[in-house]
Formats: sequence, C-alpha cells, structure tokens
Amino acid sequence: MKQKLTKWRLFTAVGLLALVLSGCGEPFLSTLTPAGEAGQTAYDLMMLSTWIMVGVVIVVSILFAVAVIKFRRRKGDKAIPKQVEGSHVLEIIWTAIPILLLIVLAIPTVIATFDLADTKAMDKKNEDGTTDALVVNVRANLYWWEFEYPNQKIITSQDLVVPTDQKVYFNVKASDVKHSFWIPAAGGKIDTNVDNVNKMWLEFDNEKAAEADNLFYGKCAELCGPSHALMDFKVRALPQEEFDQWITAMQAVDAEAAEEVPTDPTAAAGQEVFNQKCLSCHAVTTADARPEAARTAPNLANFGDRELVAGILAHNEEELKSWIKNPEQYKPGNKMTGTYGELSDQELDQLAAYLMSLKVE
Ligand code: CUA
Repeated sequence: MKQKLTKWRLFTAVGLLALVLSGCGEPFLSTLTPAGEAGQTAYDLMMLSTWIMVGVVIVVSILFAVAVIKFRRRKGDKAIPKQVEGSHVLEIIWTAIPILLLIVLAIPTVIATFDLADTKAMDKKNEDGTTDALVVNVRANLYWWEFEYPNQKIITSQDLVVPTDQKVYFNVKASDVKHSFWIPAAGGKIDTNVDNVNKMWLEFDNEKAAEADNLFYGKCAELCGPSHALMDFKVRALPQEEFDQWITAMQAVDAEAAEEVPTDPTAAAGQEVFNQKCLSCHAVTTADARPEAARTAPNLANFGDRELVAGILAHNEEELKSWIKNPEQYKPGNKMTGTYGELSDQELDQLAAYLMSLKVE
C-alpha cells in the first residue's frame, strides 16, 4: 500500500512539473512557432527527421516484441530451435531500408542548407556601393547588440527593426568574444566571430508578426560569460511602410539633431550630465561616424522607443535609474559597471528624463 502511494506521488510530481515547465517561456521565443521562411524550413526538416525516427522506433520495437514473445522458452521445452546463420534476403532488406531513409532525409536537408546559405543578393552592389537587398550588420558585444544598416547609414542597438515579408540579410560578427545570433522564431542560429564575418538571411512573415504584436525575441546562443543568459535583444518586425517611416525618422537624428537641447528642463539638465559622463562611450545620433572599435557601448539615439532597459528590465525611469546606479547587479561582468563614477540622485533623475526623451517615433 505504502509503495503504491509513493509511486502515485512520484507520478503526480512529474505531472505537475511537466505542467509548470510547459507554461515556461515567452510567446514567439520558440523554434516550434516558426514565423518566417527560414524558420519554417528548419521546422519542416526537424519534423521530417522526427517522424522518420518515430517510425523506425515503432517498427523496431514491434519486431523486438514479436521476437521476444514468439521465441521465448516455454515450460518443458528442451529442444534447441533451428540455428540460422546469414540470410541474404534479410540482410538486403535491413541495409536497403536505412539507405532509403537516409536519402529521404538527405535530399531536402541538402537543398535547404544551400538555400539558407544563399546570400548572393548581398554581393550585388549598385554603383554607389549599396545593395538592393536589405542588409544589417550585426555586432555582438559583452552583453549587448549593435545593428548597423549600411545602406541607410544608421546605427542602433538592442532593438533590431526589420520589414516583414522580405529577406533581410545579415553580416554578423563579434567585437570581444564569440557569441551567437539567434532569433528562435525566425531561424538561425549563427556564430558571431571576432575574426570573420558570417552571413545569413531571415524572413519575417507579416501575418505571424501581427500575431506576435510585431515583436520577436532574440538571444545570444553561445556561452560567453557570466551574463550570457541576459544577452537578449528584441526584434520589431514592421510592415514595409512602417519600416520605411522608421528609417526616415532614424535618419533625421543626425549629429546636429542629437545636439538639440530638450524643451523639458529636467531632460535638458540630464543632457548636460550625459555629455559629461556618458557621451564618450554612448552615441545619441544614429549617424555615429566613429569607427567600430570606438563604439564601445550601445547607441542610444532612440532609447525612449526601446522595449526594455538593457535588454532585460522594464522600460521605465525607475528601472533605468536602478540600472545606471548598479549595472553589475543586473548584468554581472558588463563593461558599463563603474566606468562613469558616482551620480547624485538629482543627476540620476535628470539623466533618466533625458534618456527617455530620446525618441524618433
Ligand atoms: Cu553573448 Cu552568450
């Protein structure tokens, strides 16, 4: 009786755990909810291989069960059954079936591999060096992401913005250690290396984007340090027209516009603090002309529009101030920790007001 109860408890515990775990995770942070061509291709291949494996497991299990039951030793049965050694027919069957299964797996896999690696559109340059294809240069850093649109000549960070229903091409690399660029719902992942540029394309389906409130989740998928798990970014997938509007608005934040003093006096005072303490690392213009190596911190030109603070905290002044006060508490090992000195509470308030005023939308 007691044993029965223990078993029952174990089942309940496992069942509850499964229930809890199945509730985990953000919507559209899963390869099982593909939101574009690349993601769908990978999903289809995964399903194909899974069903083939399930088929093999079922057939082998049935054969095994039949053999165990049919040829078991029965009571009083002393005779040794007929010993069989070698069977051409059987050997041909169990060699041919795996070969056939491998061919069924290999053909779509090879086709998809070449298709997903096809970035020829990036090499078709116009006379002025731009491409018709939309290109984003992704640069991974401990623990933040920079997104540069070379054709549009704008730079942003943390929130990647892309148009839906068209291929977006990515050049990806890292500035410090190896990271990996991954938008689970859209496809990937791909290593961001320090010494070479990797290329890939992704596509974001307009209907799926609408279902996801135009927001997908991106992750670093390579263990890169103590805050690896916090190295998140967001992807805002917008219909073409809205994307074009965003680009135009971003392009308007040139060096001159970035120097304009905000009308709100608190934010204006915050700009002073920012210029003294933060400007040497963080740019507030999308036309950051500095070379890559000098861009050591996230570009903040549209900080007020972002989804989250530092990719992980709620986007409000309170959280922003907590972050600036003690970034180490939220992202251990990050490069911002302690580099700007102490700020008074008043300076913090002003700085937060200024940063939240940096909007293009
Ligand atoms: Cu960057 Cu993990």
